[in-house]
Amino acid sequence: MEHPKCDRPIGVFDSGMGGISVLKELYKVMPQEDYIYFGDSKNAPYGTRMAEEIREMTIANVQLLLGQGAKGIVVACNTATAAAVRMLRSMYPDVPLVGIEPAIKPAALQPGHPTILVMATPMTIKGEKYKALMMRYEQKADIIGLPCPGLVEFVESGNTDGADLKIFLEDLLAPYLREIDSIVLGCTHYPFVRRLIEEIAGERVRIFDGGLGTAREMRRRLEVAGLLTSRKGNGSVIFENSLATEEEIELSRTLFQKNLG
Ligand code: DGL
Repeated sequence: MEHPKCDRPIGVFDSGMGGISVLKELYKVMPQEDYIYFGDSKNAPYGTRMAEEIREMTIANVQLLLGQGAKGIVVACNTATAAAVRMLRSMYPDVPLVGIEPAIKPAALQPGHPTILVMATPMTIKGEKYKALMMRYEQKADIIGLPCPGLVEFVESGNTDGADLKIFLEDLLAPYLREIDSIVLGCTHYPFVRRLIEEIAGERVRIFDGGLGTAREMRRRLEVAGLLTSRKGNGSVIFENSLATEEEIELSRTLFQKNLG
């Protein structure tokens, strides 16, 4: 017999628009599922806030989605995952709940001791989770953490390819370009500016993003819990935003349709 909750939506959230890059991967991996995406744009960016504040906001987001009947939660934000995932797991032991962390593992396991630049928010780079990841792979690769305050704001305003953004990224990346061979996009907003990063870094530099791995992990967790829907056909995606303006919802839809290459 089917689980009574299996036709419920999957809840996905982020501090704002960034988690839509993860939602895109979830939809590719599980197109038949329904999704509710909550962007907390009113409180973005999270990455320059205190850990306690991020935890409170993260709990509020999870409660909101569970209150709407979500059968599982994807924390589509590296910063919220770093600050709160352990606590969320203990608060909701029966809910399939998956977070996202910078894709350092696949980058570090490339042959030849690569030099990796991890772009992330200041909060992610300061966190214990990041330190633990660094320590796990420091024998395999040289890992440089690059906090990128200010980058999230470009994406939140819908700017993913402007000349001003290009200058911002060039200034940010220039000191590292000679030594690195890989970049990890350690914040879910950054895949939306991937094209520009690729253009600046050049073909030699490989880009890694944890979105697909997170989506696959969520599918596995739902499968184990017997919570995958057996419906056929494409599911629905509902966008919600704490700013509750038509512009935010429109931008969410535009980013969801955007080809990230
Ligand atoms: N998108 C988020 C992340 O993955 C956080 C961005 C922010 O609000 O600072 O880290």
